[in-house]
Amino acid sequence: MSRASLDKDPHAVASMFDGVARRYDLTNTVLSLGRDRSWRRATRKALELQPGEKVLDLAAGTAVSTVELAKSGAWCVAADFSVGMLAAGAGRPVPKVAGDATKLPFGDGVFDAVTISFGLRNVVDHTAGLREMARVTRPGGRLVVCEFSTPTVPVFATAYKEYLMRALPAVARAVSSNPEAYVYLAESIRAWPDQAALAEQIGDSGWSEVSWRNLTGGIVALHSARKPR
Ligand SMILES: C[S@@+](CC[C@H](N)C(=O)[O-])C[C@H]1O[C@@H](n2cnc3c(N)ncnc32)[C@H](O)[C@@H]1O
Repeated sequence: MSRASLDKDPHAVASMFDGVARRYDLTNTVLSLGRDRSWRRATRKALELQPGEKVLDLAAGTAVSTVELAKSGAWCVAADFSVGMLAAGAGRPVPKVAGDATKLPFGDGVFDAVTISFGLRNVVDHTAGLREMARVTRPGGRLVVCEFSTPTVPVFATAYKEYLMRALPAVARAVSSNPEAYVYLAESIRAWPDQAALAEQIGDSGWSEVSWRNLTGGIVALHSARKPR
């Protein structure tokens, strides 16, 4: 599978994640230097979940993001189109559904909140994914997107770019079950819209009150929005 084909073919993306599933959680923690846990906690807090609310964690992978959300007492379902990733998280006690972000197997307005962590960048048509997330959210419901973004301090941005292009693939070769996938990761982060551009795309895809907050100097951004009433 060539990396370029990942841009166009959802099946290639799904099988790439099937290929990294076994060691996904470990690789994530190593590559993020352990920051992933605090990014997941920040996502849960930004969602302001109430016990009993229904929450969709889209592109949930091994459900590592979903179990963090479930600590709120909300009912959280993990959805992903990589059956390999869902299977690698089989031991995590949350409901799991196989489904494509652009054709979700849920009715209109059934969720109080939807969220997607480190997944939107991988959805081949990510604005279609944002529109589909709006469809399954009730009027007034919330969206939080947790995604890699653009560091805000220029000197830090340069060091980070070096890390992405040199160190990250090297570390991935040591720990991942599919190192090539992490070259794709580095390239996809560099190609992703910055904070303001993503906010505009979210606003154009069925969401209102769009705002964002940077985490770890903008390595990650949390975008929040509301479905219009
Ligand atoms: C980097 S993982 C993120 C997993 C998890 N949310 C986390 O925080 O670690 C990205 C996930 O997006 C999923 N994905 C990519 N495109 C998708 C799509 N169109 N529909 C559903 N899942 C998708 C992949 O299968 C993969 O499991």
